[in-house]
Amino acid sequence: MRFSENFIQEVVDRTDIEELIGRYVELKRSGANLLGRCPFHSEKTPSFSVSPTKKMFFCFGCHAGGSVITFVQKAENLDFPDAVEYLANRAGLPLPKESEQLMGNTGVSRKRVFEMNLEAAKFFRACLFDERLGAAGMQYLHGERGLSVATIKHFGLGFAPDSFNALTDHMHRMGYRDEELIAACLCGKSQKTGRAYDYFRNRVIFPIIDPSGNVVAFGGRVMDDSKPKYLNSSDTPAFKKSKQLFALNFAKNCCAEKMILCEGYMDVIALHAAGFEYAVATLGTAITPEHARIFSKYTQKVIISYDADDAGQNAANKAMRILGEVGMDVRVLKLNGAKDPDEYIKRFGADRFRQVLEQSKTGFDHKSERILAKYDLTVGSDRIKASNEICALIAEYWSGVEREVYLAQSSPALGLPVEVLKNTVEQIRKKQTRAYEAKQSREAQASVKNFGDRINPDAAKDPRAAAAEETVLGLLLIFEEYRNAVERGEIALAEEDFVTDFNRRVFAAIMRMHRSEGGLRPELLGMEFSPDEMGRIEKNEIARQQLSNNGPEVLRSAVNVLKDAKQKGNAGETSLDERIAYLRQKQAKLHKGKADKT
Ligand code: UTP
Ligand code: MN
Repeated sequence: MRFSENFIQEVVDRTDIEELIGRYVELKRSGANLLGRCPFHSEKTPSFSVSPTKKMFFCFGCHAGGSVITFVQKAENLDFPDAVEYLANRAGLPLPKESEQLMGNTGVSRKRVFEMNLEAAKFFRACLFDERLGAAGMQYLHGERGLSVATIKHFGLGFAPDSFNALTDHMHRMGYRDEELIAACLCGKSQKTGRAYDYFRNRVIFPIIDPSGNVVAFGGRVMDDSKPKYLNSSDTPAFKKSKQLFALNFAKNCCAEKMILCEGYMDVIALHAAGFEYAVATLGTAITPEHARIFSKYTQKVIISYDADDAGQNAANKAMRILGEVGMDVRVLKLNGAKDPDEYIKRFGADRFRQVLEQSKTGFDHKSERILAKYDLTVGSDRIKASNEICALIAEYWSGVEREVYLAQSSPALGLPVEVLKNTVEQIRKKQTRAYEAKQSREAQASVKNFGDRINPDAAKDPRAAAAEETVLGLLLIFEEYRNAVERGEIALAEEDFVTDFNRRVFAAIMRMHRSEGGLRPELLGMEFSPDEMGRIEKNEIARQQLSNNGPEVLRSAVNVLKDAKQKGNAGETSLDERIAYLRQKQAKLHKGKADKT
């Protein structure tokens, strides 16, 4: 963990939950709590509740819940430490010095990793410009790929010699230890000797630099056809591929209006060299919602310029959706006569690229043109297929205005009246709504059976015990005196008494925190539990709060159920057959219940 518990606590203390969540959701007073429409699922009647005193939130509809940190994790798609950092910045709290922020449990700080990476980047660059060591790399980048020396220097490209110890020896001389080099993914660890060896060998090197100027990772390309073509640093706690964009360190200065998103490092470099310095690429991964949020921070419009092949075009469709979801104006470029932007610029020059850039299409135009191009519209059966696909495409748009615009636009292209197309679109939408509702009710049934409980899959093993566990946890979360009673042994309850792994982990965390100096602080549970798990924990607490009787006898009888379950368990695990029989019985009851109603 990058931050101390005290720092996290201070961040939470300084955050006004009402003001924070109020920026996403309109909240109205309702007794001691605030109520609004949940930002995490779509609903008409408010079931999203915020407790200003507890500084916790919970949605009775989708069961999202947790602390202010959980909220930011979910709303901004951040991991726990990044959400803490986000709230700290908002509250104007200075972050603890980088040197005090540790990377996971490696004992290596982020700052140290960045230092090592910078040193390695300098080493790789020196190798590339070394006439003897770097000849092959320079021949490849300059000779074969046609990059100017100025461009090579601008991007800080380098060369990793064909050696298992060139970088490792250099880094040792600079005072870095094996464990640190391995933690930073600059070195691999030998299975045989346990020693570090160079991770990148005989590859040209692309350093990846974040907007603050830290060298966060490297990509290394082979110079022939061997595999893998590119080797990238693996994720470390200092670096997540899904959150970085190549060349954003340059692009951030000239991207207020638009950015170009391409697939590869070489595309980006070619575009920058040709004057399009607002081009970026993801790092060998598909675009994620995290990337989309980064884009929305820097720019208004993203022009996707992926490879011309089918894989590239399909990836472009997906990227359009993900970027559209954060409200970006998204356009797509289809390049003709070249496989990617790099090749296009080499072949046709920067001016031609600028022209196509200006003619980039909106998502709908791009997709509908791809559909129309597949068919011969003079043939009846083809025209039907094309119409159906276009209607399905239009049906995906939420806004009625957008649907009208696209209907009007497609009608002449397909040679069919708007009204006919409109009927089809509405039919598709109705069918989709029904399918969605059916899915929801299936999911509701599954959760009754504890099937498909992603958070606590063990609950199906012994639903009665799992329910008792939830009672126990809810009570322990609310009442300090019960925690004391368990701690003092007045209530005999231990981790072994829990049947399900998840609830056992929650119990262990509650009691550990209860014993710690600061006592139980629910927001700190977010350090070990995911936002979804936090929702479940909060649900247990709220479920108990809503019941009038939370006396010690409730706790005792729930604990007894657990003890019973354990005895039964010891007498012999319930067999799979027994469990299936139980579930069948339950399902039969469910159906009967429904049949009775109708
Ligand atoms: P491409 O195969 O399209 O490479 O992969 P490219 O960028 O056009 O590279 P050149 O022109 O052949 O040199 C696109 C991106 O996918 C990632 C890299 O980020 C690459 O830039 N990738 C590809 C990998 O991470 N690993 C691979 O083995 C291949
Ligand atoms: Mn490519």
